[in-house]
Amino acid sequence: MAEETTTKAPEAADAPEDEAAEESIEDPKGPVDPDFEPEIIAFGCHYCAYAAADLAGSMRLDYPTNVRLVKLPCTGKLEIIHILKALEAGADGVYAAGCLEGECHYLKGNLWARKRVEYTKTLLEEMGMDPKRVDMFNLSSAEGPRFAELANEFTERIKKLGPSPVKNGKKAAAKEGAPA
Ligand code: FES
Repeated sequence: MAEETTTKAPEAADAPEDEAAEESIEDPKGPVDPDFEPEIIAFGCHYCAYAAADLAGSMRLDYPTNVRLVKLPCTGKLEIIHILKALEAGADGVYAAGCLEGECHYLKGNLWARKRVEYTKTLLEEMGMDPKRVDMFNLSSAEGPRFAELANEFTERIKKLGPSPVKNGKKAAAKEGAPA
């Protein structure tokens, strides 16, 4: 009877380390300018986030003016390219706000949006950007206070991260006279 041989597959640890994951283009951690005011784009579903923002307004709840809300008929309309274009255009952070899971008016739009957001995070990581600059939240139209809370929390998160490296890169290119 032939002797059983077990050939050990190369362990992940033996493989060369993923250099791309280590090369960050983010600013090194340090004191962030306390006056830094991030620009944030929120892609909000008409049925939930947009209505919740309206409610937050009528309840006179404060949320930062840093957040610019872009209304979508459903977050299912949000494509990866929209998030990347927003970052390219100078946004320091981008998030999607869709209906609660199981309550999307188009059934699975919010689930697709989450997948796209998660995939975008992996792209950011590969580019050396902090994936926390992008996120997705779910809420109902009745959650005005939660809308304000999310806007505040996300703004604080981006303030801690500092300006987007894309924005910094553009500024540096402009200083050097290169087309940005
Ligand atoms: Fe709100 Fe789809 S209708 S996320």
